[in-house]
Amino acid sequence: MVALSTGALIVFEGIDGTGKSTQLALLSSSLKKEGYDVITTREPTDGKYGRQIRALYSNRVSVSREQELDLFLSDREEHVNEVIGPSLALKKIVLCDRYFLSTAAYQGAAGFDPLDIIERNSFAPMPDLALLLEISPEESIRRITEKRGDLLNDFEQLESLKQVDAIFSAMQLPYIRRIDASKTVGQIHQQISIAVTELLQQLRT
Ligand code: TYD
Repeated sequence: MVALSTGALIVFEGIDGTGKSTQLALLSSSLKKEGYDVITTREPTDGKYGRQIRALYSNRVSVSREQELDLFLSDREEHVNEVIGPSLALKKIVLCDRYFLSTAAYQGAAGFDPLDIIERNSFAPMPDLALLLEISPEESIRRITEKRGDLLNDFEQLESLKQVDAIFSAMQLPYIRRIDASKTVGQIHQQISIAVTELLQQLRT
């Protein structure tokens, strides 16, 4: 096993349809092959709050936007306490599909101040690297409906996706690395690998 001096939290962010889950799986297997201790996880989680959130997908109007934000924050708190925190303490690499920048962007688009949302996440460890996968909102919708064959869920309508995209685009944080996700799967993986290798070189013992 390759030893790191601390754990590493690497999160995947971006609007829907950017290929986060595919890229997370590719990164996980390449890091494991290199001998790193990796765990993969996602938000919303499969815990009690995450399951409530998933139930809202088809019926967002059933809770207020405050209740919705509270659910995402409660889900994250549980996730940090039960999975992310303990894994980082064991110096693992944690790969997480969505984290608090998603809350800033999506609940920001729902009317909250994105900076206030980030502030309300101060209980959550800051990511070492946030890979922000970027495609246009139009491409996002095209991929969701054509490629996945999915119906859009209530978080994924074009106008709100444009607002979400605008918030992600405006974010300026030192740990964000922007990735052009309009490229092929292999090219995107390569951009991600470069960013991750840079980070891990700093963290190796
Ligand atoms: P997504 O990663 O698309 O999950 P799945 O692959 O299971 O559909 O996330 C589900 C939706 O939840 C997505 O449209 C974004 C939204 N979301 C928020 O609005 N706020 C948050 O804090 C998070 C983590 C997700």
